[in-house]
Amino acid sequence: MNTYTEKSKLRVQLNNIQSMSKSIGLVPTMGNLHAGHIELIKAAKAKTDYVVCTIFVNPLQFGAHEDLDAYPRTLDSDIQKLTAEGCDCLFAPSVIEIYGSDLKDQTFVRVPRLSEIFCGRSRPGHFDGVATIVIKLFNIVRPDVAFFGLKDYQQFLIIKKLIIDLALDIEITGVEIQRDDSGLALSSRNNYLNTEQKISAALLYQCLLDTAEEIQHGDQKFVELEQAAIDRLAHAGVRPDYYSICNAEDLQPASKLDRKIVILVAADVGPSRLIDNVRFEL
Ligand code: PAF
Repeated sequence: MNTYTEKSKLRVQLNNIQSMSKSIGLVPTMGNLHAGHIELIKAAKAKTDYVVCTIFVNPLQFGAHEDLDAYPRTLDSDIQKLTAEGCDCLFAPSVIEIYGSDLKDQTFVRVPRLSEIFCGRSRPGHFDGVATIVIKLFNIVRPDVAFFGLKDYQQFLIIKKLIIDLALDIEITGVEIQRDDSGLALSSRNNYLNTEQKISAALLYQCLLDTAEEIQHGDQKFVELEQAAIDRLAHAGVRPDYYSICNAEDLQPASKLDRKIVILVAADVGPSRLIDNVRFEL
């Protein structure tokens, strides 16, 4: 695997690849790779000729009281996993390489409305940081296709909107959520959970499945269904931030006419903020 920390050297390699008319797949990550990320690499390998994974813990998407310093940095084992998976290229730049030395004067990219609801309400500025780094990585790598996990469904929709609004010629592919045997969606933040907390966390997916089943059987009392799930989670020691039944395309509250539905949840379990969702059509 070719590994770069500098954009100029990465570009020389990618110019070579593009001159051979090979397609480039981009898998942006913050490292601490797990089976969910490996699925992204697999999807990229299946669809493109040359796969670039980026590992960059992006300070711009962490709030002042969030876990930037504690975020797990496991570059050596990440490199082993990427090599084993046949990833072609790793770009793992420093903060200075990406943002220079003046982080606070950075130009931002911002997707209005979608960035302000759900996780955006609880984590102000988070999605501005995500949109900004994603655009930067798109400009550096110039991929044909970029791959994102559907666990971060709000992020996925924000990036799709970014592509449309800024007229970028990049295909965005969503890759299905990977789960452990209990149903818990894989996330780097699961590492902070003890055994008991993992059991509580698994209830997130169970609630999503149960609510989805009620809706699929014709229950359209969405507000009551949301409240029942919130009460059930709270009863199990999970602290829900939101549990919302939405239109899967614009994340507006679901109406009785909507056919494409997503149920989104975010909750604190022990020290971790976890998110999950299920999507289905009626
Ligand atoms: O989903 C993530 O891991 C991050 O938000 C991303 C897209 C790599 C941007 O830092």
